[in-house]
Amino acid sequence: MAKESPKEIFLKDYKLPDYYFDTVNLDFILKEEHTLMHSKIHVINRQGTLSPLRLDGVDVKLLSIRINSKVVKEGEEYSLSSKHLILHHPPATQFVLEITTEIEPQNNTALEGLYKTTGNFCTQCEAEGFRRITFYQDCRDVMAKFTTRIEADKSLYPVLLSNGNLIEQADLPDGRHYAVWNDPFKKPCYLFALVAGQLVSRDDEFVTCSGRKVALHIWTPTQDISKTAHATYSLKAAMKWDEEVFGREYDLDLFNIVAVPDFNMGAMENKSLNIFNSRLVLASPETATDADYAAVIGVIGHEYFHNWTGNRVTCRDWFQLSLKEGLTVFRDQEFSSDMGSRAVKRIADVLRLRISQFSQDAGPMAHRVRPHSYIKMDNFYTVTVYEKGAEVVRMYETLLGKKGFRKGMDLYFERHDGQAVTCDDFYAAMRDANNANLANFKMWYSQAGTPVLTVSTSYDAAARTFRLKCRQEIPPTPGQPTKEPMLIPLALGLVSPKGKDLAITSVHDGESLKFLKDEHGNGVTTVVLRVEKAEQEFVFADIPERPIPSLLRNFSAPVRLVSDISDEDLLFFTCS
Ligand code: SER
Ligand code: ZN
Repeated sequence: MAKESPKEIFLKDYKLPDYYFDTVNLDFILKEEHTLMHSKIHVINRQGTLSPLRLDGVDVKLLSIRINSKVVKEGEEYSLSSKHLILHHPPATQFVLEITTEIEPQNNTALEGLYKTTGNFCTQCEAEGFRRITFYQDCRDVMAKFTTRIEADKSLYPVLLSNGNLIEQADLPDGRHYAVWNDPFKKPCYLFALVAGQLVSRDDEFVTCSGRKVALHIWTPTQDISKTAHATYSLKAAMKWDEEVFGREYDLDLFNIVAVPDFNMGAMENKSLNIFNSRLVLASPETATDADYAAVIGVIGHEYFHNWTGNRVTCRDWFQLSLKEGLTVFRDQEFSSDMGSRAVKRIADVLRLRISQFSQDAGPMAHRVRPHSYIKMDNFYTVTVYEKGAEVVRMYETLLGKKGFRKGMDLYFERHDGQAVTCDDFYAAMRDANNANLANFKMWYSQAGTPVLTVSTSYDAAARTFRLKCRQEIPPTPGQPTKEPMLIPLALGLVSPKGKDLAITSVHDGESLKFLKDEHGNGVTTVVLRVEKAEQEFVFADIPERPIPSLLRNFSAPVRLVSDISDEDLLFFTCS
């Protein structure tokens, strides 16, 4: 078999797949020495192309291939390499592809694909683990409806789980049994999951806003089940919060969480079968700190929120990872803020960003929120894609306001439910829902490096004006020696020496004068300036006394702020 060497993949080379998968039937026969796997895929040749169909597959033993029940032969009809199975002449319309393979989960130490952990079978398919299960088009934009049959020894593996609803379950001869799961929602294969083993569950129920009952199960090995009360609480709180804050209702009658000890990814949002590393689910008053409890809320929320931001609307390709991760981190941050202290959460998140992400952005690993190329996608699950990505989402909210942001989110779901899309689609939904001018905001996705925002201020007592000069520079990063100015939202207040926010009634941004009013017709106490140019001056009129500027409120943009504000004035904020 030919060995393939690693290949760099570029965003600019993206093209729509020639072949779509419509329905996928997977049949797993789990045994101790190997797992036998049969897949039956309804393939649609999108444009009647004559191009070959390339399937991904790693460490998978091929036993047979059939197209429309007819055996396909090696050589003329297909060829096999260490990473691919290529069908040379698939039919030009629709056809049924059946592949039988064998894998060895018990020897799979990659912790991706199907593997064993403390005696149980478990999967992790993000980013590219499904290709270790069977030959498949392991692409985000190939979305199919999966039906999964799992067969195993009943005493060793009494619990058999996969995505969607359980539609059939029965005993078989020789102490074996099977379960069939059907997921009615189309999904890319990275959201596939299977768990088989000796697990017990904590069961609960959630009634959705439209009155539908959802059965909730948190599965763990017996000894851990007593530590799942907080996870259950967190899950129910997340389900309610997503309804109230984003209008997103859960869409199946069942939601499963499994906690396993060996799990590299931390946690994974597989459709209706979230899998977690135990440390992010289990908590007991004897051993867990407040921070542990807060982490469980955050991560349970994060994975649950992916059901809409990641699963219902997914990524077109892995370059768009921040589309689901930046957005979902933002959503879990907001959830945790609402569940606890907003200020404490924001301070913790900003500290983390400044310590970890700013350092990444300043070093040899600096990369864009939307990377332009990768060799191994697993290396891009970074603080830049996640945390800086979340800041990019937060900036939309800062620029558009809470209501405007929600309008953008609603339009995003309305346009793209059931689709695999890009960061540009998210940007367009935000812009179009608000008829907003977001010119040069999109560069936040494509320019790496932390912008340096230098602010100098002056007060003219006679003219009662306060001036603020801004200069933005984005330092060079590997492969990006020069940068363009971006739209930076700079939230600020002007504070009187007595410690009161002054009313700001107008601002001149160098081009035009804008009047500012709150809902009662008074001036505002926090204004969001649009810093768009390399250098820009803002002038505030009618400022009765020398104010102390409070800059970058709520850390309104992920920038390094340099200002001429004196130590004395900075100290004023800590004392007032
Ligand atoms: N998709 C997973 C998550 O971020 C990977 O860890 O939730
Ligand atoms: Zn995530």
